[in-house]
Amino acid sequence: MKQAEARLVEALNGIAADTALVLGSGLGGLVDEVESPVRVPYGDLPGFPQSGVTGHAGEVVAGYLAGAPVVMLSGRAHYYEHGNAAAMRPALDVLAGIGIKKLILTNAAGSLEPEMGPGSVMLIEDHINFSGTNPLFGEPSDKRFVGLTEAYDPGMRAALLKAALDTGTDLHKGVYMWFSGPSFETPAEIRMARVMGATAVGMSTVPEVILARFLGLRAAACSVITNLAAGMSGSELSHQETKEMAPLGGKRLAAILKEYFRAGGNV
Ligand code: HPA
Repeated sequence: MKQAEARLVEALNGIAADTALVLGSGLGGLVDEVESPVRVPYGDLPGFPQSGVTGHAGEVVAGYLAGAPVVMLSGRAHYYEHGNAAAMRPALDVLAGIGIKKLILTNAAGSLEPEMGPGSVMLIEDHINFSGTNPLFGEPSDKRFVGLTEAYDPGMRAALLKAALDTGTDLHKGVYMWFSGPSFETPAEIRMARVMGATAVGMSTVPEVILARFLGLRAAACSVITNLAAGMSGSELSHQETKEMAPLGGKRLAAILKEYFRAGGNV
């Protein structure tokens, strides 16, 4: 067993989680809702990303959300930080190693649909990898040819949609297009993305979903919409705006996720 796996198993002390949640912008507050939490800083877990966008090191928070055992990853590495699309591979590998079977990813995204404005939440049904890279570059085994036909698990998607319905929360559905960042897109790129079939654009999640499928984890993902995409609102995009708007949709998504776990998730 790897050192990080052993450290996590020890910290979990019997918390039998089969689902891990990666907290993106706007979802950070969810760690405060974990009952009987145990916290392990990424610094104690070799291979976990050592600094995130905000410069703060992340942590694993495990415990119970709405009564169900869960492992949360607060803080993720992005491709644009170091140009490494596989930056999350060691962490996801450790999760798989300690018995996690399902991964729910959350992120902030720009919307291509005028009626899906800031504060909306979108269930990702499929993605377009527009980055030109792949987290499995260099992987030598034939396992690298991973199928992505049902990358976003149908059962988990259905359970998330039901949780949205049961909490009276609007949950849009759409296709997430991965741009490398860190610069935002141009209006021309957004027009292209729309023609290609995208519903939202963002700078994360896709490499993690590819890695999850590679590792045999079932995956689901939701976006909190922080802005209309470039050229749609008449104003310049900024990271500041993204950070300010993320908690709006974040609260909605937190309600959906809590209901998902309360109802037993998807088995
Ligand atoms: N583009 C890319 N990533 C984003 C955006 C966007 O408009 N908003 C939040 N993350």
